[in-house]
Amino acid sequence: MMETVHVGLEGRAYDIHIGPGLLAQAGALIGPMLARKQVCVVTDENVAELHLETLRAGLATDGISMEALVLPAGESTKSWAHLEQTVEWLLAQRVERRDLVVALGGGVIGDLTGFAAAILRRGVGFVQIPTSLLAQVDSSVGGKTGINSPLGKNLVGAFHQPKLVLADIDVLGTLTPRDFLAGYGEVVKYGLLGDAAFFEWLEKLGPKLAAGDVEARIAAVRRSCEMKAEIVMRDETEQGDRALLNLGHTFCHALEAATGYGDRLLHGEGVAVGCALAFELSARLGLCSQEDPSRVRQHLREMGMKVDLKDIEGELPDADVLLDLMGQDKKVVDGQLRFILARGIGNAFVTADVPRDVVRALLVQELANR
Ligand code: GLY
Repeated sequence: MMETVHVGLEGRAYDIHIGPGLLAQAGALIGPMLARKQVCVVTDENVAELHLETLRAGLATDGISMEALVLPAGESTKSWAHLEQTVEWLLAQRVERRDLVVALGGGVIGDLTGFAAAILRRGVGFVQIPTSLLAQVDSSVGGKTGINSPLGKNLVGAFHQPKLVLADIDVLGTLTPRDFLAGYGEVVKYGLLGDAAFFEWLEKLGPKLAAGDVEARIAAVRRSCEMKAEIVMRDETEQGDRALLNLGHTFCHALEAATGYGDRLLHGEGVAVGCALAFELSARLGLCSQEDPSRVRQHLREMGMKVDLKDIEGELPDADVLLDLMGQDKKVVDGQLRFILARGIGNAFVTADVPRDVVRALLVQELANR
């Protein structure tokens, strides 16, 4: 049942294996890549409790020993302090250039561990074992690694591709429905940005997938990874097309900043709301029909997800403050806001040509509907 997506970057090619029971097969899958039969694993407390011993047993079947660093769970772990702790721990474990470091966790652990691997001894290899849906379809693929600075998210980092990604579909069964659906926001994003047929498939099979259907989950993770791999192969360091992966993110980042990057709005929830807003904005600019944003909203609603600003609990700042927060987005170039807009479902493009007053009017109306 295992499927494989190949990321064909020259000199840095790797496979993404997707399927059930991959933690138990980790030894067989990682073993052939090891110079010696030992690995260091970085994980967090929540994931360790659920999956670390399964991974240990899976590695042991191939005679691979494992040491683990268990960090606190949560976004605040993506910090200078935990980067230092991770790098010093890996050095103390005598990790060598030809060894592989394993990131077992969600986006926080993957980004932090990948960055630690990038700078350790000027670069050691690492394996991503993503345990959230969001990490399986987005953050574990494509080589973006890094930590947050007190001045903003992901401001310190490096491109460092993993040597292998193991997306074990079984681990998704341990996610809360809310976390699963937040990751699903990124899955929907792929259909919206570049594959109308995939979006249509999600409209039909999304509920089955959320209910736990393994085949549907494998198919959704595979298509998402294929699309991400294809874009990363075209534009690894985000000089152009890779920005398409940021559909919904300009709105999302402002909303995350406004809500304190916490429980009020998870990243994937912000992406879903941001995608709905990006389609609404595209319709207002005459780029797509009004039916497209309605269809996006309807699917998100049917999945029980946050769709509109009114779904975000608590106070939100006014439209001008939200616009200023968008202005602090990493995608701003020469002070110009860059948006990912769409000419229809599955047909997104990057542009800096968006009049501020149209965005403002949209936000004013969405806020008034709360
Ligand atoms: N998460 C967006 C990217 O990897 O480019």
